[in-house]
Amino acid sequence: MENLSNMMILFGGTGDLAKRKLFPALYNLLRGKALPDNFAIVAIGRREKNNQEYREFIYSFIEEELGINLDKKIWKELSSRIYYLPFSFEDDAGYERLKATLNTLENTYNTQGNRIFYLAVSPEYFGIIVNKIKYHNLIVGEGSWQRVVIEKPFGRDLKTAQRLNKEITSVFSEEDIFRIDHYLGKEMIQNIMVLRFTNTIFEPIWSSQFIDNIQISSSEQIGIETRGGYYEKAGALRDMVQNHMMQLLTLTAMEPPISLDDRSIGYEKLRVLRSLQEYTYEDIFNDIVRGQYDRGIIDGKEVNGYRQEEGVDPSSQTETFVAMKLAINNYRWAGVPFYIRTGKRMTQRSTEVIVEFKRPPEVLFFKEYKYLQPNILVIHIQPKEGVFLRFNAKRPGVQNFIMPVDMDYNRNCLIDGNCPDAYERLIFDIMRGDSTLFAHWDEVEYSWRIVDNISRAWSLHPKEVFKYKAGSMGPSAADELLARDNRKWWDV
Ligand code: BG6
Repeated sequence: MENLSNMMILFGGTGDLAKRKLFPALYNLLRGKALPDNFAIVAIGRREKNNQEYREFIYSFIEEELGINLDKKIWKELSSRIYYLPFSFEDDAGYERLKATLNTLENTYNTQGNRIFYLAVSPEYFGIIVNKIKYHNLIVGEGSWQRVVIEKPFGRDLKTAQRLNKEITSVFSEEDIFRIDHYLGKEMIQNIMVLRFTNTIFEPIWSSQFIDNIQISSSEQIGIETRGGYYEKAGALRDMVQNHMMQLLTLTAMEPPISLDDRSIGYEKLRVLRSLQEYTYEDIFNDIVRGQYDRGIIDGKEVNGYRQEEGVDPSSQTETFVAMKLAINNYRWAGVPFYIRTGKRMTQRSTEVIVEFKRPPEVLFFKEYKYLQPNILVIHIQPKEGVFLRFNAKRPGVQNFIMPVDMDYNRNCLIDGNCPDAYERLIFDIMRGDSTLFAHWDEVEYSWRIVDNISRAWSLHPKEVFKYKAGSMGPSAADELLARDNRKWWDV
């Protein structure tokens, strides 16, 4: 059994991620008795605060802003283990203070030299911090483990990602690097493999022989909020496709791994990325649709268009929506299109994988044929969680009318009243050293190759960025992408 005792060193302690996700996740882990007894956190931020002020700052954010009622006893237990050190990430003296603090606290909490360096900071600091960690000898070595956790974005293109990876791997080895893709921590995404590989009714038909097409769609209602500066440079392609959508695609399309360890799964995921047909400039023009939200109505309220958002160029060509058709050139998937769609300010928040099966031959129920719906298997990832299978049945009555019926498993997160947030699972896995649910370097590298190819073509031959109304399902060009193949996006 892995020794879970550890000290978490959290860079970016006053940032949004720490307040919104990491501390609530640590609190829930403690409540669920999943934190080790030997554990403490040293948070680092630039704002001046002492330990007590910092603990109160986190407490009031969780209670007031997130509206979570913390159990006083559990919070007291967690907060007594939280320490704060103010210093800027370039400041050598700060790292020396950190070193001294770690030495003291490691004795108090008996964390045995195991350290998690969690970089919840903006990407320009990733390289600086890992180099300082090395320079100040914060890696203890022998008999203990040290891991680094990197939030996205991991680079902004292949070159910057490679550079960053070089910097990080000069300090930590690949098995100690945990690159977060929080989608992998989502329950239903983990369920994709379970559904596929534990049900003998699915795996044999999971191929071009029975499947007509697969749609992976992730729509959001929120806009870019206060992240204009970042988003202008990223766009939906880098922000969602390079990471989350590619991860969903690989899990849906991969071959069964030879075992459930991270290497075997990573190997199969990589094979999917390597089998993706490379886009030519012409394909990029024909098979990828870019969109940008315009003013519109969300939940009855008028909202700004992207170009009116704070920090956005009023003539910006950044896409907030992407729809694309991909081909996986391997034996299983040849001829089956995969359609990916993601966007902000859409009708609703919804992520799902939809597997559309081939239609039956037009021989028996030919009069009703045009009413026959294909079978679909829908994996609802969020906010609804569940699976449903649609098939055709006879409508009760004297005539042979056919209707689609759904067999529905709605998880609703209620099975045992326990609905872990992605970060709970991910933090737990970091502590036990299991990197299965993290993005490995070769996957990151390959998805950047794909994305770079597209963005290069877009910059050389600017492709129209279609406007869509906030509150809609994207530009009509995205519907045409499928209509041209006699298909449609399933709205389920
Ligand atoms: C992040 C993106 O990685 O994922 C955001 O940077 C996006 O732009 C978010 O809103 C979506 O995550 P979730 O869990 O809300 O689907």
